[in-house]
Amino acid sequence: MPPVQRPKGTRDFLPRDMERRRWLEGRLREVMRRFAFREVGTPAFEHTELFTLRSGPSIVEDMYTFTDKGGREMALRPELTAPTMRLYAEGLLGAPRPLKLCYFGNCFRYEQPQKGRYREFWQFGAEILGAERASGETEILALAHECLRGSGVRDPVMRIGHVGVLKRLLSDSGVPPGEQPRFWPLVDKKDFEGLRAALGERGVDPDPILSVLERRGGRELLEKVPGSGLEEVLDGLESMGVTGYTVDPGIARGLDYYTGMVFEIDVPGLGAEKQVCGGGSYSLAELFGAGKVESTGFALGFDRILVALEAAGAAFPEAGPDFFVVPVGPAERGEARRVVAALRRAGRSAETDLAARNLSKALKHAASAGASEAVIIGEDELGTGLLTVKNMGSGEQRKARLEELLK
Ligand code: HAM
Repeated sequence: MPPVQRPKGTRDFLPRDMERRRWLEGRLREVMRRFAFREVGTPAFEHTELFTLRSGPSIVEDMYTFTDKGGREMALRPELTAPTMRLYAEGLLGAPRPLKLCYFGNCFRYEQPQKGRYREFWQFGAEILGAERASGETEILALAHECLRGSGVRDPVMRIGHVGVLKRLLSDSGVPPGEQPRFWPLVDKKDFEGLRAALGERGVDPDPILSVLERRGGRELLEKVPGSGLEEVLDGLESMGVTGYTVDPGIARGLDYYTGMVFEIDVPGLGAEKQVCGGGSYSLAELFGAGKVESTGFALGFDRILVALEAAGAAFPEAGPDFFVVPVGPAERGEARRVVAALRRAGRSAETDLAARNLSKALKHAASAGASEAVIIGEDELGTGLLTVKNMGSGEQRKARLEELLK
């Protein structure tokens, strides 16, 4: 074992992993392009305050924080919504609204690692700032839905709720707003037994609350959420052909910054870490001195989507070179290099043997490198200018001029 290993909760990505990651990234970027979202980038570390302003000092326990050499308190970003709001306040205040922004970046959380839960992970997300509420929420839900469809994940389950439900249920039962946050984590974890016990201890009858939170269903549940405006959002989704979601009054999502609609997408087959997307409406810009701007967004757990695709045996594209050029002997090496260079200049991907192998070993290597075709260069080829081209899949051979291969 090497004397120094990678830190707990982090991963190395081998070439095959990176090819899959880039492929998925490309699919998601393509969805963002079709929805006309524009990408932004922010630093990997920020002033710790950016995150504590929103979530309170306890968030520090879940973050990678450090004091820099200038004595500043810094944090590796645990997510990208607060940084995006800061970016807006620093650089986009004058831009025409609504703003439709997206991002892809690594995030860091000090968690107990397990499959699908890492200390460094990637989020692909989007935020809309300053849209009319229902239109913005519809657009964000439709985008999240399309991201899952575009990535090819099977059977994602989208649940839509509203933070007002839980707040109102608790208030109606006599729990004042200041006392409510201690119940949120239990709802978040869907620990309804724990919630029942906690409410009982507080002297609150749990039945009316649980009978709402435990329900899932269709539109009819919206009567439990009067004034949420979700009717309009669901109408919007219907016009856009987005179906297959359920209404879930029991979504809490760390209520500290969400103010309205909230949603989650699960891939049930993933087990404990099944949530591949979370988001909702919030109002954060004013914390960063940018005035009040209603916003809606989400972040996809990029790594979890990959875990889901791999578990389902998804067919990722293979990434071998178009051509592997093999000189029959040392005398043909120069010609092989000339052919490789010409192919590359013409935009084809091409490799040649770098290990001075004999023909049969080089062909074996070409197969394991995943080359589509091998180009064999021997004495004959040098004389006639006709190259032998072997299809690595079927084994068929043909003769071709270099010019044909360049096309
Ligand atoms: P979040 O639910 O904390 O929301 O994270 C979004 C997604 O990131 C999760 O649904 C999950 O798939 C993935 N994720 C979170 N932690 C880990 C981890 N340790 N390892 C692997 N994947 C993880 C947010 O971060 C909000 N900023 C989303 C948002 C955007 N809300 C409004 N706009």
